[in-house]
Amino acid sequence: LRMKVIAIDGPSASGKGTVAAQVAAILNRDYLDSGALYRLTALYASQQNIDWHNEHEIATLAYKLPVVFSTDSILLNGMDVTAAIRTETIGMGASAIAALPAVRTALLQRQRDFLTPRGLVADGRDMASVVFPQAELKIFLTASAPIRAQRRALQLGLATDGADYQRILNEIEKRDQADRSRTVAPLKPANDAIILDTSLLSIKESVEKVLDWYRKI
Ligand code: C5P
Repeated sequence: LRMKVIAIDGPSASGKGTVAAQVAAILNRDYLDSGALYRLTALYASQQNIDWHNEHEIATLAYKLPVVFSTDSILLNGMDVTAAIRTETIGMGASAIAALPAVRTALLQRQRDFLTPRGLVADGRDMASVVFPQAELKIFLTASAPIRAQRRALQLGLATDGADYQRILNEIEKRDQADRSRTVAPLKPANDAIILDTSLLSIKESVEKVLDWYRKI
């Protein structure tokens, strides 16, 4: 049974979010940014002074996350947190709580609920392996760590060399390492995923590759 889902997994700052959102728009599908759910949970916990290692309390929060997604903003408890969830501190918090099995279980059904008859493009770390194992197309989108650090620096309006670049590169490598080495849903390509290395590709070229594979299924 194949699901009308294109799963795009990969490491941080690989460009998978941008590519997934564009593919969704072109194919007229919904888009799930699953990382945002982990980021929202981390932010919500810190707003309530709950420690990022408190598995039980964070899972409880994750079940009842008061979030509203719209096309260009994300509301948490009625507050616009679109920018607040994108900081590297919240990224690290998301990575910490994402290693807790009860938290992943709490977010599982919420992610699956994004699938409607329109079809879905979902990006994250375990879209292909855990959340949508019957996805019709599975892509593991990656790029070298230095290239990802450059892209993130550009996105933040910083220089692509020097101290800021080094700091970003270190953060990216640290988060990748944490995501790869955890026991639940570690970051790795699913057996049946196509690997797309975008180190030498533009966003447009990456989107075209995904659409080419989609047309072939
Ligand atoms: O993709 P993004 O950088 O927004 O994800 C933030 C963190 O959330 C990741 O570092 C990862 O630990 C976690 N995550 C996850 N599973 C997903 C999506 C994100 O564990 N499907």
